[in-house]
Amino acid sequence: MRKGLLITFEGIDGAGKTTQLLRLAAWLEAQGLPVIVTREPGGTRIGDAVRAILLDPRHQEMAPRTEALLYAASRAQHVEELIRPALARGEIVLCDRFVDASIAYQGAGLGLGEAWVEALNEYALGGLRPDLTLWFDLDWPTARSRLRARAEGGGLDRIERRDEAFFERVADAFERLWRAAPEVRKRIDAARSPDDIEQEIRALVWNLIQQHL
Ligand SMILES: Nc1ncnc2c1ncn2[C@@H]1O[C@H](COP(=O)(O)OP(=O)(O)OP(=O)(O)O)[C@@H](O)[C@H]1O
Ligand SMILES: [Mg+2]
Repeated sequence: MRKGLLITFEGIDGAGKTTQLLRLAAWLEAQGLPVIVTREPGGTRIGDAVRAILLDPRHQEMAPRTEALLYAASRAQHVEELIRPALARGEIVLCDRFVDASIAYQGAGLGLGEAWVEALNEYALGGLRPDLTLWFDLDWPTARSRLRARAEGGGLDRIERRDEAFFERVADAFERLWRAAPEVRKRIDAARSPDDIEQEIRALVWNLIQQHL
């Protein structure tokens, strides 16, 4: 492979991103391909420290701009320290949430403006773009019932506690992003069974790998 690939997993909370990311990673590894699994916010020591600040349910007073800047700060570190070096080594980087999440959650969900958040992230990324973004499209009621089942015993984080209208705005923004660039963002119908989704993703990713050989 000439260079690595960056594949990002996007969509509202509970859409099934992490489930599929881990399945894809296991499959790619079984094919003998070099894979790195990472997530946002986080992915680095500094990023994980920022993640803890962002998700802490006690931080109710956090201003929307602070939130957007912290996500972008975590991402800048992630790109510099982990993602670019891995791509330079020819690895396949699977990232659980990336720029689209910021545009949707802070830009649309919190009302900061999608264009502002996009511009902020262009600065954080320094020109890097995902090779493929998988958008997990799922209605919020279904996602919420999955989250509730998952959260039994544990709690919801600060972002997951937001109301239905917030998640509707976020879901609409993900759809707008997909419509704006369907060649780099693939819509995944996330209401299907995990096995069906896994097969579709394998085919999409295999196709991408063939193009990059
Ligand atoms: N296709 C599916 N059908 C039904 N349940 C699913 C499916 N995929 C995942 N789940 C279950 O739904 C819950 C949420 O899935 P998962 O944690 O993968 O979502 P996520 O998108 O990573 O959520 P978050 O954004 O909160 O990290 C989990 O309990 C998972 O086992
Ligand atoms: Mg997850």
